[in-house]
Amino acid sequence: MRTQVGIVGAGPAGLVLSHLLHREGIDSVVLEAHTREYVQERVRAGVLEQNTVDLLSQTGVGARMQHEGLVHHGIELRFQGRGHRIDFRELTGKAITIYAQGEVVKDLIDARLAAGGTLLFEAPVVSLHDFENSSANKSSIRFRKDGSSVELGCDFIAGCDGFHGISRTSIPAGALTEYERTYPFAWLGILAEAPPASEELVYCYHDRGFALLSMRSPKRSRLYLQCHPEELIENWPDERIWQELHTRLARRGWSLTEGPVIQKGITGMRSFVVEPLQYGRLFLAGDAAHIVPPTGAKGLNLAVADVWVLARAIAEFYRSGDRSLLDRYSETCLRRVWKVQRFSWWMTSMLHRFDSDNPFDCRRQLGELDYVTSSRAASQSLAENYVGLPMD
Ligand code: APR
Ligand code: PHB
Repeated sequence: MRTQVGIVGAGPAGLVLSHLLHREGIDSVVLEAHTREYVQERVRAGVLEQNTVDLLSQTGVGARMQHEGLVHHGIELRFQGRGHRIDFRELTGKAITIYAQGEVVKDLIDARLAAGGTLLFEAPVVSLHDFENSSANKSSIRFRKDGSSVELGCDFIAGCDGFHGISRTSIPAGALTEYERTYPFAWLGILAEAPPASEELVYCYHDRGFALLSMRSPKRSRLYLQCHPEELIENWPDERIWQELHTRLARRGWSLTEGPVIQKGITGMRSFVVEPLQYGRLFLAGDAAHIVPPTGAKGLNLAVADVWVLARAIAEFYRSGDRSLLDRYSETCLRRVWKVQRFSWWMTSMLHRFDSDNPFDCRRQLGELDYVTSSRAASQSLAENYVGLPMD
């Protein structure tokens, strides 16, 4: 088996990359450890930046998103029982779209298969070979399929296999530097058959911890609560979750809509970056290269920004033999990555309660929220980051 670009992982990064390469006339094979159903049904984030929406629309995979996605022109920051709107349209002229990651993944898989693309599911990659030298052109990927071991020869390998994938760890120790911060809390998230009680997302700071009201459709709410990182979901029957959400999200004249809980889980929070994003002919993209805490809703959008840069660089190489964009891949992506890391860390730090905080820290957080919601310059800074910084 042979292709031009071997892609490990069929998450948003791997699928968007394969789609963009196809549009440039470049052949790729996507290898995914799990089933198609698994990658489509995984409950993940659901906020698309304007950049992501534009890219999907302009490359022909945006039709269902445009029809079913919910376009939001702002968010609410809620603290001390009062709501403050950040108006994206007025501050940036841009918007965000609520459309679940699973739906983006479904649309991309449909488009790749309709175009005759090769996506292999239940095909876990076990090892990567001969990618160390950036001038040789016979790298290979070994994976398992239906009980046998198969080898895929390729010019380039794209490691789009998430934080726990094999690509990053295949690079020799010492070649990469890791930057990391973990947070002393996690998010307990539920998906509920309940019409969202607010038209826009509500990010809420409360003495008892952060809460977030989000949604998936006019009938489905997605809600989160800050909790202890070692918290067990068994300790949180639905009634306790609703009670805590009511308490934290309370606002005069407003109430939360309840409904049957159809999914619940706890997700840890971390900030992580590896540098560089390239080793020889292996390029890391998306969660394989960096993780952001979910507070700014940036994970998927950052993965899309990476592969947009990578697809352009690979296309330029095949078109003209010029590798300068490939050589700059890591540097180009890292500039955006660090700005997005800063924003996600800042939103997280402003909105969560830290065990180590003293009353001074809590007052400082309230001072910051007051500033962000009352200064046009500060609101605009939040807004321009939230809707997405311009693509390079
Ligand atoms: N072989 C093949 N596939 C693998 C392997 C392997 N050895 N290891 C991991 N994978 C697959 C996973 O099963 C997963 O489907 O790689 C895929 C990686 O997808 P994501 O984790 O979704 O990562 P990414 O595409 O970078 O998307 C980043 O999606 O996961 C969210 O929070 C994340 O929103 C962010 C965005
Ligand atoms: C979500 O809808 O899942 C969501 C929304 C906003 C965030 C994180 C997650 O910041």
